[in-house]
Amino acid sequence: MDIFAHRGVSAHYPENTAAAFRAASRLPIAGIELDVHVTADGELVVIHDETIDRTSNGCGYVKDYTLQQLRGFDFGSWFSVEFEGESIPTLSEILELFAGTNHRINIELKTDVIPYNGIEALVMKVVAAHQMTERVVISSFNHESIQIISLMAPYIETAALFAEVLIDFNGYAAQIPANAIHVNLPAAYCKSVDKALQEGALVRVYTVNDVVQAEHLQGLGIGAIFTDDPEKIMTGLSGQ
Ligand code: G3P
Ligand code: CA
Repeated sequence: MDIFAHRGVSAHYPENTAAAFRAASRLPIAGIELDVHVTADGELVVIHDETIDRTSNGCGYVKDYTLQQLRGFDFGSWFSVEFEGESIPTLSEILELFAGTNHRINIELKTDVIPYNGIEALVMKVVAAHQMTERVVISSFNHESIQIISLMAPYIETAALFAEVLIDFNGYAAQIPANAIHVNLPAAYCKSVDKALQEGALVRVYTVNDVVQAEHLQGLGIGAIFTDDPEKIMTGLSGQ
């Protein structure tokens, strides 16, 4: 079962920052997961929420700031004073961090609240510029975004994110189309996920920070988990 560092090593570093991804790049894990929004001047930035309120010393919507304005905020201190001055990274900067590794990069398009018209083409352009088309997985809760990606670049691996349980995950994903199914932890134990696994679907589960849960999911045939603490999970699984 593959391990992806969720928002970087977010248990020990401020989520979605260069510090969190640098830590992940040093680990022997399958990949990382990150979230992307678009600034007022059309730059792709890595941050989870629509606003900067929770993870910076500022407030307001990402979409209302230019990249230069966002650079003026501190995205580290909310987590610990040790990370004071950490800035919001661009997607390009994070891809650059992984240029010399073979980690997979799961880019989540955060288009479920704000649609960010054209984000799919912007992301594809940056991924291509970094020659990472074969290493990325593009996911979203907004399945229209996945549809756009699959039309634009059918060779890119995609994943449909779900916050709810479907009766037929696999049939639904095939229609989008999406290559993989990303479900939350409670859904992973549902009969319909088991059915999807029996049908040969690639299922990844978020967010798994407990070793016992990880062991169980591995036994079920889950393809990968997203965790905030990859080292804890790796150590736990290797000691089983
Ligand atoms: O991509 C898996 C997971 O990150 C989706 O939920 O809210 O953590 O972005 P969220
Ligand atoms: Ca995410």
